[in-house]
Amino acid sequence: MKHLLSAADLDRDEATAVLDAAQRMHAVQTREVKKLPPLRGRTVVNLFFEDSTRTRSSFEIAGKWLSADVINVSAKGSSVSKGESLRDTVLTVEAMGVDALVVRHSTSGAVARIAEWVGCSVINAGDGTHEHPTQALLDAYTLRGRLGDLTDRHVAIVGDITHSRVARSNVLLLRTLGVRVTMVAPPTLMPAGVATWPCETSWDLDAVLSGKAFGDVDAVMMLRVQRERMAGGYFPTEREYAIGYGLSPERLDLLGEDVPVLHPGPMNRGLEISSAAADGARSLVLSQVQAGVAVRMAVLYRMLAGPDEVAV
Ligand code: NCD
Repeated sequence: MKHLLSAADLDRDEATAVLDAAQRMHAVQTREVKKLPPLRGRTVVNLFFEDSTRTRSSFEIAGKWLSADVINVSAKGSSVSKGESLRDTVLTVEAMGVDALVVRHSTSGAVARIAEWVGCSVINAGDGTHEHPTQALLDAYTLRGRLGDLTDRHVAIVGDITHSRVARSNVLLLRTLGVRVTMVAPPTLMPAGVATWPCETSWDLDAVLSGKAFGDVDAVMMLRVQRERMAGGYFPTEREYAIGYGLSPERLDLLGEDVPVLHPGPMNRGLEISSAAADGARSLVLSQVQAGVAVRMAVLYRMLAGPDEVAV
């Protein structure tokens, strides 16, 4: 694996190998001493042109626990704010002797473009509304941990699909892993090309959650309403969105008791998800965060140490 730009870069064997490696890495998280040696002497740069809490810090922790040197560069405080072009910034950082660039950018396709410019490995940590493959991997890891084998399972992905790179990467990876996906959104937040995606679609959340639309669901993934990417009015009021598409306590009751709830974070409580759902027994939100470190360790390890290195 030279780069990880899209969830489509992973076939079933490769995705499963990453998830299996993540499982071994996860054990490290519970140790008192969390450092492993395999990436000693390697340098990873987190280059974030967009805000992040979970993704950036988990890549940093993942690299450090594998003994890589990890440096964070954010657009604010870098020469980007002095007018430097993206290409110049990236080539400058790479010239310092970098083995992998972990990049987040607000423009769809920017990370793939960067991978054409540089010689080092590039990991897409979210490009615009396009893709976020390590999020899909950590979601699959979390789902696998709860549901076991994912073949023929049914996952509903609910909310602002139009602006969600998480939804795009998830539908690709989940299909690769044999999962049936249903996307649920109001018509204004369902992307134009969704008919070509490998999933069912619905505007009726209650029908999907109750199993009346496409059969019982095994897990529900709620997505954030991405107001920062919305130029106009995609729904009348927040209250109406919450009524139609929020995972309220009443809607939770439509689900079987053991059906888990996921959310990539950050959450808009009271809008797409109620506190009852976010903090309840079904919630896997913090398990997802935990999985994020293990999965990113696995990706960095396979990318920089190679799959044939002595397994951890
Ligand atoms: C997601 C992202 O940045 O795409 N967050 C994350 O990486 N945990 C989802 C979001 O911002 O809503």
